[in-house]
Amino acid sequence: MITSKPGYLLGRLSDLSDPTRGRILLALEGHELGVSELQSILQLPQSTVSRHLRILSDGGWATSRSEGPSQRYRFVSQQLGDGQLRLWELVRQDLSGSRAATRDRERVRAVLARRHLRSRQFFATEPARWDHLREELFGPGYETQIAFGLLERDWVVGDLGCGSGAVAARLAPFVTKVIAVDESAAMLDAARLRLADQRNVECRQGELELLPIGEAELDLAVMALVLPHVPEPGRVLGEAARALQAGGRLVVLDLAPHERSEYGQTMGHLWPGFAPGQVQEWFSSAGLVEPRTVSLPHDPSARGPGLFLATARKPTLA
Ligand SMILES: C[S@@+](CC[C@H](N)C(=O)[O-])C[C@H]1O[C@@H](n2cnc3c(N)ncnc32)[C@H](O)[C@@H]1O
Repeated sequence: MITSKPGYLLGRLSDLSDPTRGRILLALEGHELGVSELQSILQLPQSTVSRHLRILSDGGWATSRSEGPSQRYRFVSQQLGDGQLRLWELVRQDLSGSRAATRDRERVRAVLARRHLRSRQFFATEPARWDHLREELFGPGYETQIAFGLLERDWVVGDLGCGSGAVAARLAPFVTKVIAVDESAAMLDAARLRLADQRNVECRQGELELLPIGEAELDLAVMALVLPHVPEPGRVLGEAARALQAGGRLVVLDLAPHERSEYGQTMGHLWPGFAPGQVQEWFSSAGLVEPRTVSLPHDPSARGPGLFLATARKPTLA
């Protein structure tokens, strides 16, 4: 709240003229507290605490939000103008060594410990319920989203064999650009529909054997469930490596070896899954280094074969 209105700071000075209001702000520094918590910290009746909080809120010292039927208050010094901040620093210095402030600090700690106790009790008695509640609240597999935090904001990512764009849609919010490539016009139409609101996704029609992507255009290339469809996976991985920057990473998510021979008829699979050694050999022929393959845990609700994740990196320039 920055203002140059004459008399404004005098008004703010009177906000702090009562030591109780200074003690409230000290307690609220770094902690969000409810009225009843402030009551127990300041050892004052609710009406007194509420009256002081109203003055602090009106003066722009404290902000609040509703939580159920009650309000929680915060003191955010970054929101204060220069003059108001200087006033607070003077009052803070004057008050913080006082016996009252020292006792308040101890009681703030006790209040926070009591709050943490509730969560400790919950987790001590409900481990099984937590798994159920977590899925009910956030859906299955929400934790896999943590991995998206590893993506760099300025990256250009290739979703190679993008199909209907499900992977591109997940990646797009985290990076500068996603280039989604597929040979199928029908799949790309579906991808464009899905990705209509994601302006940083560019759909390009083309073949994985001759990518419509320039040399070193990508920081990361991903290929999900694509390799069983291509006659020469080694060639496709080599082409992906060409499109990567030095130091860029290729990530392949695909089927582990399986015996579902019907996939040849139904989906045009040419390969019955891939053993880790096979993929690593192709990585190495493509000039990729630091190969790693991890079998993914089987999702009990999924009917398909097991999956693996394989990654390797294009060497950095010497
Ligand atoms: C099983 S879908 C996977 C789509 C997507 N990656 C996903 O996880 O949902 C395989 C996709 O690869 C594409 N594809 C297969 N071979 C290709 C090739 N040689 N060049 C370009 N796209 C190809 C197909 O058109 C299809 O959309």
